[in-house]
Amino acid sequence: MSVEITGKSKIMFVLADPVDHVRASAVINAHFRAIGEDVATSPLHVLPEDLPAVVGAIRRMGNVVGFGVTIPHKVAIMSHLDLVTSGAEAIGAVNFVKRTAEGRLIGDNLDASGFIAGLASHRCAVGGKRVLQAGAGGAGRATAFAIAAAGAAELVISNRDEAKARALAECVAARHPTVNVLAGTAPAEDFDLVVNTTSLGMKAGDALPVDLSRIGPQTTVCDIIVNPAVTELMALAAARGARTIGGKAMLDEQMTLVAEFIRR
Ligand SMILES: NC(=O)c1ccc[n+]([C@@H]2O[C@H](COP(=O)([O-])OP(=O)(O)OC[C@H]3O[C@@H](n4cnc5c(N)ncnc54)[C@H](OP(=O)(O)O)[C@@H]3O)[C@@H](O)[C@H]2O)c1
Repeated sequence: MSVEITGKSKIMFVLADPVDHVRASAVINAHFRAIGEDVATSPLHVLPEDLPAVVGAIRRMGNVVGFGVTIPHKVAIMSHLDLVTSGAEAIGAVNFVKRTAEGRLIGDNLDASGFIAGLASHRCAVGGKRVLQAGAGGAGRATAFAIAAAGAAELVISNRDEAKARALAECVAARHPTVNVLAGTAPAEDFDLVVNTTSLGMKAGDALPVDLSRIGPQTTVCDIIVNPAVTELMALAAARGARTIGGKAMLDEQMTLVAEFIRR
């Protein structure tokens, strides 16, 4: 179905470099079409050195309501904004910017809130739970802060680069002192919730990010990878009777959050 973009449409962008792989604009457009709102989103190829000029120009565009930010701009964008939410500040990255009617730019990290909302949409609450997270990359930083903010009892972060897991665990523990946050590996069967935030599972033949060979139905396994919809990790978890939640839940909830964020 084609989209009719007119002078009444609210305009959004997704800033990226490279730009060919960007799918977020299509997902956002599909969401706004489904909820009947006149919003049109286009990817913009923006080189790192051009980011200040592009952001300055967007400020002056009266029909722009916001823009998504992806690789490699998620950290660099922060110094060009008028306000960054405290959650995004702690995570150290922004993935969505709202432009107010006055041209003020407010950055947030919707990976974090989208992740928790995605779990909630599957009736999975994090409060009081023991959580094992694989990965400490960009998305892993967001989910770790989100898990602690949601009141998990314990969070163990494992990562190939162990120093990154330790650094992340220290930052999360400092912000959420009531949560027992550790870095390292631990048996998955000791946890209520296992979350994969690594990119392992995107390609056929990838190693498994977590050993699930002893988990049972009491464990929930969440993989934030969107493609494939069912990763090998999820298939193994399901075969052991565990509940599984895929990355689409987090992505879908982020679309709802974008819609709410630009309305506020
Ligand atoms: N569902 C959603 O809405 C959503 C949102 C954001 C991201 N995601 C997905 O989350 C995944 C990670 O994205 P990201 O932005 O966090 O990427 P990233 O910043 O590049 O982080 C990648 C993570 O995967 C680990 N990793 C990569 N290759 C590995 C390997 N061969 N062996 C072991 N660990 C490996 C990295 O470990 P090292 O630190 O050791 O390199 C790091 O922890 C992607 O699949 C992305 O599509 C989904």
